Amino acid sequence: MKILVIGTGAREHAIVHSLHQETAAGTATHELHAAPGNPGIAGLATLHAVDPLDGAAVAALAEQVGAELVVVGPEAPLVAGVADAVRAAGIPVFGPSGEAAQLEGSKSFAKEVMAAAGVPTAMAHVCTDTAELEAALDAFGAPYVVKDDGLAAGKGVVVTSDRAEALAHGTACLANDGANGGANGGGRVVVEEYLDGPEVSLFCVCDGATVVPLVPAQDFKRVHDGDEGPNTGGMGAYTPLDWAPAGLVDEVVTRIAQPTVDEMARRGTPFVGVLYVGLALTSRGTRVVEFNARFGDPETQSVLARLATPLSDVMHAAARGALADLEPLRWRPEASVTVVVASEGYPASARTGDQITGIEDAEALPGVHVLHAGTALSETGDLVSAGGRVLSVVALGSDLADARRRAYEGVARIELKGSQHRTDIALRAERGEVSVP
Ligand code: AMP
Ligand code: GLY
Repeated sequence: MKILVIGTGAREHAIVHSLHQETAAGTATHELHAAPGNPGIAGLATLHAVDPLDGAAVAALAEQVGAELVVVGPEAPLVAGVADAVRAAGIPVFGPSGEAAQLEGSKSFAKEVMAAAGVPTAMAHVCTDTAELEAALDAFGAPYVVKDDGLAAGKGVVVTSDRAEALAHGTACLANDGANGGANGGGRVVVEEYLDGPEVSLFCVCDGATVVPLVPAQDFKRVHDGDEGPNTGGMGAYTPLDWAPAGLVDEVVTRIAQPTVDEMARRGTPFVGVLYVGLALTSRGTRVVEFNARFGDPETQSVLARLATPLSDVMHAAARGALADLEPLRWRPEASVTVVVASEGYPASARTGDQITGIEDAEALPGVHVLHAGTALSETGDLVSAGGRVLSVVALGSDLADARRRAYEGVARIELKGSQHRTDIALRAERGEVSVP
């Protein structure tokens, strides 16, 4: 199949890697294209210098290369309606319409849909001025959860017991004009009830009507070990979650994903693609922390490493509205751990332009592969850092301990000046220390 993947991150590299492996394994022959891609994807697909936010340009590229499937990876193009432009050109696309992507693009819209669908989530108040913000902070009390209404690349949420910090973030969100890429983040901030308990990411593949869940994963959002420091896009992930209650996936599909997909269909904006259900397993039951309208990064790197069913079959079935006919998904029994290597200063800033070496050495380890995110080729052809999250080191192992050991051996072989990574990805799970309160 001719497949065009839109995006530049390690998530898109993971998608292209999985598709490429189908060809390598002889189960399919794909012709892979990516726009704009990254230096890692360049080894597996033909890159095209097309603006991923320009729907007309992406649709024209898809027609030009004869794409039979277009996969839109990140949220910004989805919210900008890039999938609509491709769909209008008559090409199957894996990714929701701009309207359906508002489940991620607007936290207040997501809350409204959850309320209509009866989905359990944190109680929340949408504030439009400082007086309302102050009243909401006092009503919910500490710890305070304050969220920019629009897209913010994983950095729009502050969870703090410091009221002054909560107020400062909320005030900044009220002043935000949506410049982070959000369609309508301007002037609104969501304050909500604090949810205790471990978080789980469950990706639900949807075709507008049918929901097919992938395996749950856990992400590590804070920048430092022990969940200290500010939130990031995600510093690492693992699957499986041996500690999660049996029946969690069925519960999430029945009580959360299916009602949401049904509600979106009822509104005339069917959801096609990945409904990323971010959950907190709280002392009072399973609650939605957030919806995203796409695969999560870095969870995808770990989840796709375990998927044995060809990914192209899953995405093509979703894009054509044929998920009900898909065979049950098959999974490799191994555990998978992903560790993100980030540049110095991330997430506040990102030191760039430093040479990266050791990727081949890391990939020489059994079960290890390395995916690119913020990388670039210098004028002299060296691989250099070019963003906050630079690489994802992904390892499969016989169990979490084995996968962790391999992932960190891989990380140790990579050299990047000033780089940082968490050393405790999947550690508490390996030790059996994660539990639902
Ligand atoms: P979001 O962008 O909504 O996923 O929020 C980013 C992160 O902030 C989540 O993954 C949680 O770690 C944290 N967070 C968001 N909402 C809450 C909440 N209601 N209670 C506790 N932590 C939260
Ligand atoms: N890893 C969190 C996200 O993709 O939003």
